[in-house]
Amino acid sequence: MNVKQLQSLAAKHGTPLVIIDHEIIRRNYAAFRKHLPKVQCYYAVKANPAPEIVRTLYKAGASFDVASLPEFMTVYENIRRLPKAKQQDFIWDKIIYANPTKPKETLLALDQYKPLVTFDNLTELEKIRRFAPHAGVVVRLAVSNTGSQCELSNKFGCAPGEAVDLILAAFKLGLVVEGISFHVGSQCTNFQNFVQALNAAAAVMQEARQRGGHEIKILDIGGGFPAPYNEHVKPFSELARVINAEIDRLFDKHIEILAEPGRFLVATAATSVARVIGKAVREGKRCYYIDDSVYHTYSGIIFDHCQYPLKAFRKGKREVCAVFGQTCDGLDVISQSELLPNLEVDDLVYSENIGAYSNASATWFNGFPPAPVVHVNL
Ligand SMILES: Cc1ncc(COP(=O)(O)O)c(C=O)c1O
Repeated sequence: MNVKQLQSLAAKHGTPLVIIDHEIIRRNYAAFRKHLPKVQCYYAVKANPAPEIVRTLYKAGASFDVASLPEFMTVYENIRRLPKAKQQDFIWDKIIYANPTKPKETLLALDQYKPLVTFDNLTELEKIRRFAPHAGVVVRLAVSNTGSQCELSNKFGCAPGEAVDLILAAFKLGLVVEGISFHVGSQCTNFQNFVQALNAAAAVMQEARQRGGHEIKILDIGGGFPAPYNEHVKPFSELARVINAEIDRLFDKHIEILAEPGRFLVATAATSVARVIGKAVREGKRCYYIDDSVYHTYSGIIFDHCQYPLKAFRKGKREVCAVFGQTCDGLDVISQSELLPNLEVDDLVYSENIGAYSNASATWFNGFPPAPVVHVNL
């Protein structure tokens, strides 16, 4: 999005503002499909659950990873008017409920749709059998998340050594294990995580065949595909080459492969614009206060371990400064070292690549509402 467009949208809508460019989402989706042609792309709705984004990806032909009943319903809105049989086909073919731990109420609500759901322990399996007996199940493996921006294997996934016992237990309970899944950690720039995880999944599939005669049909390679936040992130095409080579080497050509990218599809699609509402000098450093915060669009600083460099529209010699959010909390620090020109109150600043895990986790803290969102190129 060019600077003129940003300025004119901020003038029209005020600040703080999040601008989401749907052309970029379509482009990211097309890039994913091009480089991983054998992989069905399930958008991980949690990265940015805006219904407009879900709609754009639905129209582009995407599938969806949901992790709560409200996320499921956001996707469902798009198929509500389809005939029942078509709805059912869509849910079965194009939605995975990929939160390994689900409240029983959610399972009860989902059972009518015969969903595909993940699990990683026996307690969950027994719960699924009791409250969603029509679900197909996918066992989630814990895999190396080394070097990824956000760790997930600390909380999810069974040890690869336990996986086949769980698969056998599931079949014994009368459930059908459709697949094996993993997540290499979000913003995974260490491609070896994918290599190791694919090898672990292949070994589990082989053991399931040998010990139980069970043929697992689905391989779910999760999310983690890195957004190009900076020049250190290697191109997606390079990661895709590594993944494609391992898939060809390790798996039968009839296996169904799916992935759950979140960040990769939406991170680069959003820009936020905020206004300087105050300035001060603290210990010799210039400090700006802006009308957004880490409780709002910049929540990814806390929850996603992400940084979003700030830029100014005003020209001038840049110096190191701090940028604080609008709330009364000392934690609300957007950056302790940003390079910005000497700004005045009411000047605007903006951050690019802020579409994933950002406004998705914005709160109403301190009475400030989440920034309004404007969608362009819908
Ligand atoms: C199960 C699951 N799938 C997919 C994703 C999306 O990951 P990413 O945004 O790194 O692609 C997440 C993120 O937390 C997840 O928990």
